[in-house]
Amino acid sequence: MEERKGRKIIMFPLPFQGHLNPMIQLARIFHNLGFSITILHTSFNFPDPSHYPPFTFRTIPHNNEGGEDPLTQPEASSMDLVAFIRLLRQTYEDPFRRSLAGEVGKGDTSSCCLVSDVVWAKHAEFAAEEVGIDRMVLITNSVASFCAFAALPLLRDKDYLPIQDYRLDELVTEVSPLKVKDLPVMETSEPKELYQIASDMVKGANSSSGVIWNTFEDLEKLPLMDFSSKFQVPIFPIGPFHKQSDNLLPTTKNKEDYETTDWLNKQEPQSVVYVSFGSLADIEEKEFLEIAWGLRNSERPFLWVVRPGFVQGTEWLEALPSGFVENMGHKGKIVKWVNQLEVLAHPAVGAFWTHCGWNSTIESICEGVPMICTPCFTDQRVNSRYIVDVWRIGIELERSKMDKREIEKAISSVMVEEGDGIREMCLELKERADVCLDKDGSSFKNLENLVSHILSFNS
Ligand code: UDX
Repeated sequence: MEERKGRKIIMFPLPFQGHLNPMIQLARIFHNLGFSITILHTSFNFPDPSHYPPFTFRTIPHNNEGGEDPLTQPEASSMDLVAFIRLLRQTYEDPFRRSLAGEVGKGDTSSCCLVSDVVWAKHAEFAAEEVGIDRMVLITNSVASFCAFAALPLLRDKDYLPIQDYRLDELVTEVSPLKVKDLPVMETSEPKELYQIASDMVKGANSSSGVIWNTFEDLEKLPLMDFSSKFQVPIFPIGPFHKQSDNLLPTTKNKEDYETTDWLNKQEPQSVVYVSFGSLADIEEKEFLEIAWGLRNSERPFLWVVRPGFVQGTEWLEALPSGFVENMGHKGKIVKWVNQLEVLAHPAVGAFWTHCGWNSTIESICEGVPMICTPCFTDQRVNSRYIVDVWRIGIELERSKMDKREIEKAISSVMVEEGDGIREMCLELKERADVCLDKDGSSFKNLENLVSHILSFNS
């Protein structure tokens, strides 16, 4: 511990919830081990530092000096995710270089390394080289999905991409067990940019001093072997992160959180369907209505997170028929946001209808909750295939088939018909997640190796 005291790790997250959460959890793990943490964060989506007291936050200003942040302008709000990430990179890459140089040059404590989100990795490489600091990468997706990203150029050469409808259910032997419909792409106005982002991620990770992963060996044995056979970079699968940083979770709760807990406390064990599609995905109004009726007709209690902006073209719930919310009675609860870790750990929750973001997936695995999988884009499709066919802890409900009857069927299937078998697999995997964090467990040992690795850097 003494050796690490005062050694600073600089972290550079991507400013989206699904990327910031694991970066903060990793920061907590490092902090518990005696490192000091500085987080360089874009002024866009800047988090409230008072929620994360042990860390120093520094703002990276946008490149439009004296003007507005291009990311908060009306043109940006109508962009798809790929176009938005391109703009994000253009806006913040150069300012990040300057911020990093300022931070490393401070000389207050020795900076041992930079840990950047993999989406920044290519640029972080130049910035870190300039100031002569070692650089690691945090990949917030699964290993399997990263390997599929890495295979995109090959799959394009082999004509799997762009995806043709008649091939959707075809197995892609190069990235088995993925089918064509599971390949980690998305509809975008800038398809070339999607490949560029994927290629930069792969190059930036491969040229780093190491890759840190929120996964564990027992969960992704084959994808980890696949990665190591193709890339030379050292890897550190040390997840699940959130199970190692519980003691520092923010305790601030708002009124809505308390109401949600009260509501869950009144439900029968394993009776509630929890529904959330993460922090980025959005849906059309007609899909929203199908979900609403499907949940209602299932006649089971449901807790549904509808983020403001989740339904395209609306503010919040105004697309629901009048009286819908009132008639739900105590059977259903719709909220804008929940503390998902707490919800998944609640004994009343019997299933998680999810978009299969990697954080949601690993959080559900850790609580042994069966999943209904409706992936929306990129890595979520890969995660869904693994949940359904490899780990067998959930069922598939394709977005294109998501009408109210299919929804009812899927809920009944996961809660009743297939429920016992799936729950058994869930409990087994939950136990394996616990074991990897024990003293002799793989993640525990990998974390020890990661710390030695970091301490070996020159600084
Ligand atoms: C994004 C991508 O979409 C996803 O595919 C990728 O794997 C990570 O980055 P996101 O879509 O937000 O993430 O999904 P997810 O990875 O599941 O992360 C969402 C996070 O927000 C989770 O940590 C979840 O616990 C949290 N959350 C979500 C809440 O705390 N409350 C909510 O109401 C919803």
